[in-house]
Amino acid sequence: MDLYAWIKALHVVAIISWMAALLYLPRLFVYHAAATVGSETSETFKVMERRLLNAIAKPAMGVAWIAGLILIWQGGWGASGWLHAKLLFVVALSGFTGVLGRWTRDFAADRNTRSQRFYRIANEAPTVLMLVIVTLVIVKPF
Ligand code: HEM
Repeated sequence: MDLYAWIKALHVVAIISWMAALLYLPRLFVYHAAATVGSETSETFKVMERRLLNAIAKPAMGVAWIAGLILIWQGGWGASGWLHAKLLFVVALSGFTGVLGRWTRDFAADRNTRSQRFYRIANEAPTVLMLVIVTLVIVKPF
């Protein structure tokens, strides 16, 4: 049995779930920023945001990291240039997940002050990071 391939499959599934949450959360914030504080719509967004963050984004990020670190160890990738670059961007993606957590808490406490435009722009960050990360790991340019 090719254990490495199984772990890589798990890694990719976790990445897909993590990315889905990272791409969708700022989109929810775009609509939530326009909702009246205390309205039913606003309260529904709070539940959606909390679940997406805690039930999908955080666990998926954990599994992606654990599986990824096992792949580094089992694949002997420790000295590869592409991996070092990838890790830099993956740390940025993990940091962005933390920032989304802070924004989710701001909305939960009805203290969001950021505009819809702000969240629209923030929505582009995970897309750009994903493009760079996938190119690095698939093309392995260095
Ligand atoms: C969380 C920390 C991460 C670590 C430690 C990590 C590490 C690794 C390693 C060592 C491999 C094996 C490469 C190979 O066998 O050629 C791999 C595969 C892969 N990673 Fe990650 N990765 C992480 C996060 C990510 C993220 C955030 C993405 C995408 C947004 C991603 C996308 C992929 C893909 C698509 C593959 C499969 C590549 C292939 O089969 O050629 N990884 N990762």
